[in-house]
Amino acid sequence: EDGEGKMLRMLMFGKPGAGKGTLTARLVKKYDIVPLSTGDLLRQHIAEKTKIGQVAEEIVAKGGLLPDELMLEVVSTKLDHLQDKHWILDGFPRTLGQGMLLDSRLRQLNMPLSLIVHLEVPDEVILSRISDRWVHLPSGRVYNLSYNRPKVDGFDDETGEPLTKRPDDNPEIFSRRLSQFYASTSPLLSFYASQPHTNSQLVSLTGKTSDEIWPQLEMAVKAVATGLRERAESRD
Ligand code: AP5
Repeated sequence: EDGEGKMLRMLMFGKPGAGKGTLTARLVKKYDIVPLSTGDLLRQHIAEKTKIGQVAEEIVAKGGLLPDELMLEVVSTKLDHLQDKHWILDGFPRTLGQGMLLDSRLRQLNMPLSLIVHLEVPDEVILSRISDRWVHLPSGRVYNLSYNRPKVDGFDDETGEPLTKRPDDNPEIFSRRLSQFYASTSPLLSFYASQPHTNSQLVSLTGKTSDEIWPQLEMAVKAVATGLRERAESRD
């Protein structure tokens, strides 16, 4: 398939704060993969005050979910440009409806999923991380005061710009996002486990730290995407 080996077309799936963004960034840094995070895309829309951003702002701030059709719109045009690329979708789909919309869109584009990764992290672990999370909004880079600290506290490593707190990272909103996950997103797991997603593999990864999860993730990705190449700058 795909000439030079199988393509990575992956879903990064897990609770809010499970480490989806952190692990996606790590893969993208090392390998020639395009990341697509709906959370990051929405935060950019909000910052730029686009039409979608205006709808999203209040919903995101309250820890709710945007309508499925609108989310497909956000993702769809991006997917059109990823035909011959390795990619990871982070944060989409997150309802059964989105899963079905994505399926039919990918069928139209003849881009079947190759890997679905489920990050399994206990709620207690996640809750303790969130209060320490800081983000660089323009790039989506994520830091943590007790893990993955920025070189200079409060500032982005690459641009030197200030870091901010996400407005939806306070304890009350966060617990709403967690309940939203159990109610709306976790049913997707049985959807992907039961559906004949013939070419895709569902892998659950557990571990308290990303350093435990990382080797398992890298192995799963390389086993599936034989055409994947390391970025020149990451090789020594
Ligand atoms: P989104 O941005 O996708 O939020 P989320 O799924 O809640 O995920 P997070 O970004 O909070 O966490 P993450 O798993 O990426 O963890 P991270 O790597 O940062 O979505 C935001 C909102 O947008 C939603 O609430 C919704 O309103 C809307 N939205 C988005 N997509 C949508 C969709 N498809 N449909 C409808 N609405 C949608 O890690 C968390 C923290 O832990 C960080 O500080 C990190 O440094 C730290 N950390 C990571 N790994 C470790 C480790 N191993 N040890 C210690 N700390 C660690």
